[in-house]
Amino acid sequence: MAPTPTTSSDDHLSAREFPEHFPDPSLAPTADSVLALVGSTPVVRLTEVTEGLPAQIFVKLDQTNPGGSSKDRIALHIVREAERSGELAPAARIIDNGAGNTAIGFALVGAHTGHPVTLVASSELSPAKERLLRLYGAEILRGRPDLPFSDPQNWEAIAARHADEDPATWWSHQSATPTNPDAHYLSTGPEIWKQTAGRVTHFLAATATGGTVSGTGRYLKERNPRIRVITTDFVEGPNTSNGLAAAIASDSPVPEDERAWPANIDTELIDRLELRPRHDVIELGWRLAREEGLALGLTSALSILVALDLAREATPEDTFVVFSADSARDYLDHEYNAEWLQAHGLADIADEYND
Ligand SMILES: Cc1ncc(COP(=O)(O)O)c(C=O)c1O
Repeated sequence: MAPTPTTSSDDHLSAREFPEHFPDPSLAPTADSVLALVGSTPVVRLTEVTEGLPAQIFVKLDQTNPGGSSKDRIALHIVREAERSGELAPAARIIDNGAGNTAIGFALVGAHTGHPVTLVASSELSPAKERLLRLYGAEILRGRPDLPFSDPQNWEAIAARHADEDPATWWSHQSATPTNPDAHYLSTGPEIWKQTAGRVTHFLAATATGGTVSGTGRYLKERNPRIRVITTDFVEGPNTSNGLAAAIASDSPVPEDERAWPANIDTELIDRLELRPRHDVIELGWRLAREEGLALGLTSALSILVALDLAREATPEDTFVVFSADSARDYLDHEYNAEWLQAHGLADIADEYND
């Protein structure tokens, strides 16, 4: 099948086509600040690992955002909307709990907008991410994602407490604020629609807060209700045991007090949840680097693994778009490190890809 009209086959280095003279200098293609570089990320077609498959798989490379992940989008939108509504006062501190990507987004947005940033991180925050956050000037506290909100050590409880006790601190609450999915509704969805010339048939993304899949899925389904929205997770969790798959499969909405997942996961928009074992995801991550030249984060490899499986049963009319939230940068000490693999029962992957 012919590639979609937006696919560029030009694979040699050349300067982008820009007009040489601008009647209005404000139209010149330079960014006014780093904030103007958030979003509008590229989409690339997989060509090697997809050999022989009937359908095409594209990857939306959101690691090309200035902070290295898709979370720059939500950080920018959450901050701008909270400033506009008056919730976030000038110079107030932003506190956030999470794996670090959103905090990096907040830290770079905060640097420009005058908001200091605190991250409540789990013990799994990678040393490289921690150093990057400190470079941006962020403060780091420790909290536990595995304890209930009622426990004072829970990472959301710590963030909420700081915001309650200090009027100059504002908790962004990314797992519940509608400005998180709205950021994707306003940017990621329209970008994918335009970049595939409206030919996208399947959208795949991993879920943590649910912002990506809910916001992008809402936009794409409004454009074409036949588009399938598929979310992905590891067999090992975190979403396997909390009834999310059953809620997605059911037609009735789950009452708020019965949900064990973030409010921003809109189960009515998601057509299915696909789980894959961590081992197979890591292996594909190495393969994508070696065969496609794409060094991707683990959730990106996870969704591509699902897309490869579904594409086997697909038709030439199907166009899969996989969302890549971040790059291999933050996994180099663990899943993309041969010694770590050896020590964690994954020596077969280490042996296959290392001499
Ligand atoms: C690497 C990575 N992938 C996927 C996600 C899921 O994105 P969302 O929070 O929009 O569900 C996140 C969010 O934390 C992430 O950091």
